Amino acid sequence: MSKVVERLAELAELGKYEGGINRGLATPQERKARELFARWATESGYQLTQDPIGNLFARRNGSDPAAAPILVGSHLDTVPTGGAYDGAYGVVAALCALEELDREGTQTRHPIEAVAWVGEEGSRFPIGCLGSAVFARLTSLDEAYALHDEAGVSLADALASADGGLLDLPQRGEQRVAAYLELHVEQGPVLEAAGVHLGVVSAITGQIRYRAVVEGTSGHAGTVPMDRRSDALSATAEIILAMEAAARKEGGAVVTVGRLVVEPGGTNVIPARVSFSIDNRSPDSDKMEAVEVAFHKTADDVSKRRGVRVMLERLDVHQPTPMDSKLREGLHRVAKIMGQNALDVASGAGHDAMCMAKMAPAAMLFVPSIGGHSHVGQERTADADLELGVTALTRAIVEVDK
Ligand code: GLV
Ligand code: MN
Ligand code: MN
Repeated sequence: MSKVVERLAELAELGKYEGGINRGLATPQERKARELFARWATESGYQLTQDPIGNLFARRNGSDPAAAPILVGSHLDTVPTGGAYDGAYGVVAALCALEELDREGTQTRHPIEAVAWVGEEGSRFPIGCLGSAVFARLTSLDEAYALHDEAGVSLADALASADGGLLDLPQRGEQRVAAYLELHVEQGPVLEAAGVHLGVVSAITGQIRYRAVVEGTSGHAGTVPMDRRSDALSATAEIILAMEAAARKEGGAVVTVGRLVVEPGGTNVIPARVSFSIDNRSPDSDKMEAVEVAFHKTADDVSKRRGVRVMLERLDVHQPTPMDSKLREGLHRVAKIMGQNALDVASGAGHDAMCMAKMAPAAMLFVPSIGGHSHVGQERTADADLELGVTALTRAIVEVDK
């Protein structure tokens, strides 16, 4: 078994249950994943540092001490029903690429750092790409530390805890970045359908996350006539369907309500309050705007018609992010030399590369996902593609170093 496959299998044990892998930020399982990365990096002789939010950097020195590092990485956390490859693959592959450079005796001019970003999924704490956003100074450390999970635990406390917190490692001093590369599974069906083994990401979709609350009036499910109700859930249903219709009309926009809490939650009690998440995405920011407009229009309408109160809060905004064109050309050159015909693909998933693109030229490579499955336990990529991706990433590092 190759090292990349072996290490991914080892990581997949952390947080594994019948629904997939659950490794939320600053949980014991996620900390164990960071420990594993730290152990592998140390065993291979790389200098390991950590920043105040827990991002880990394994550095392979270059020949020019004045050169800024090229960062290569992804994330180790998962959604609550995660697969073995989303994020973990890019982290393990980055480390394997450094080791491959050692093996072949390649001296790069820039230092190369394999990075494990924390909290990319935003599943325990409500903001996505948290580690890279803090690193790129798009989110302040104080703002990040003040986030709370559903149980009311702050990120500051979670990162200070013994079982889920920061590792005992030297603090990272370096802030400069020459370029950023990320290898990831596609998480969609495009590469597999095209029979292609490598994708070069053209752009990452825009994404806005919100928290919404609809408040109505509770009451007896049997005695309150339909025309005298302020049912918070029925109002919510109208809002969700209106956003869905707007996304369909716009074409290329997608909107998802993945979490919904109904209170008080009795089968024979009219819902008084619904709080829910909204994930609104499109490669075109006008289309995200159109979905948000549909929310507000319907919220106004249901407020008057149903007598409910509606609140919407934007938690996290990422505009559509094109990848660096020079780096993309380099990735295509690398693929060609490897005898691969790489396909340009747009990413509908968010990635740490979105944040890194704000501070340095950034680019991404994809390998196919079998059946296009992701954010579910049956996420798979063929071993041969995982290995091909590591080779492509190694060659891409050398290409970018030039
Ligand atoms: C992360 O995978 C996201 O796209 O939300
Ligand atoms: Mn990911
Ligand atoms: Mn993901």
